[in-house]
Amino acid sequence: MRLLEWYENNRRQLPWRDTKDPYRIWLSEIILQQTRVIQGLDYYLRFVKRWPSVRALASASEDEVLKEWQGLGYYSRARNLLKAAHQVMEQFGGQFPTKYRDLIILNGVGPYTAAAIASFSSNEAVAVVDGNVYRVLSRLYDLETPIDSSEGQKLFSRLASEMLDPREPGLHNQAVMELGALVCTPASPHCGECPLQEKCLAKAQGTISSRPVKQGKVKVRNRWFNYLIFKFNDTLWVHQRGQGDIWQGLWEYVNVERESPIKGESVMDLALSVLSHEEWEVVESVVPVVEDRHHQLTHQLLHINCFLLNLSQEVHPKGQYEQISWNNWAEKAIPKAIFDLNSKIYPFFVP
Ligand code: ADE
Ligand code: SF4
Repeated sequence: MRLLEWYENNRRQLPWRDTKDPYRIWLSEIILQQTRVIQGLDYYLRFVKRWPSVRALASASEDEVLKEWQGLGYYSRARNLLKAAHQVMEQFGGQFPTKYRDLIILNGVGPYTAAAIASFSSNEAVAVVDGNVYRVLSRLYDLETPIDSSEGQKLFSRLASEMLDPREPGLHNQAVMELGALVCTPASPHCGECPLQEKCLAKAQGTISSRPVKQGKVKVRNRWFNYLIFKFNDTLWVHQRGQGDIWQGLWEYVNVERESPIKGESVMDLALSVLSHEEWEVVESVVPVVEDRHHQLTHQLLHINCFLLNLSQEVHPKGQYEQISWNNWAEKAIPKAIFDLNSKIYPFFVP
């Protein structure tokens, strides 16, 4: 109910939302498969002005339809538009169908479009599953199942059907899509305005930016972690990693992260991003511990550099760091990559 309320108060006023005419809804959906709402609006208004009914459209020539479609690209959609208009004339006596089982027969109408037309025009209880719905559901339930796998398609269709409000399927479908378009956006969603924020598992888990998961183009992100171990007697500085990234809540050494290799940067340059120039003076020696060690995570390749800096006096690196003794370090929860480094570092602390 909260979702429908949100939709009533926040929806964009769009001409195809003020009609139950399945012909107009169909036109809008086919156009919106091809372009964004702003540009689609122009095309939609020109189409319905020129061909106000399916009967009118069915009597157009293919050239006329292609001409009106010009600029949208993917011209087979325009040809299918005309074919579907002919089908409606021949198989449905000129009455544009409103039921899913009839709509799905039409040229160019797939499961998404059939569900959209059926639910918007006749309130048939069929759930729409489009990119917006995938995104909202994958975040709401914090799902790792790839949306482009057959397992994912089944799972998301099932969830969308279960979630459908049986009293208002048309409004519900539009509301989820509108939420995905306006609030639960691909990059930096506006969770503070979201009517589902209290129920959203990805929000609670800090995984929003990695939902939805796609298997197709699993792009590996390269990251360069440059660890600096500021050793003063038996102490070193460490850092607890925060939310919304790998190793949440786990500990590491001072990490000067870079988006590219540090070739042009010396250890001094790295250190000066957390130390003052005066503090740098107390560095007595630098020991490279590892250089460009690869650490593979599911979707990230870490390039790890680690330098041990022997200090003659205490320093206080800028940032969220904590100074501990080596013995206390052993009690902290650390990722595997740090565990591996520790075995190389411990001889320096425990001679
Ligand atoms: N994208 C696809 N269908 C839409 C609709 N009915 N309203 C807004 N954007 C859409
Ligand atoms: Fe999307 Fe944020 Fe709402 Fe979750 S709380 S559904 S991530 S907008």
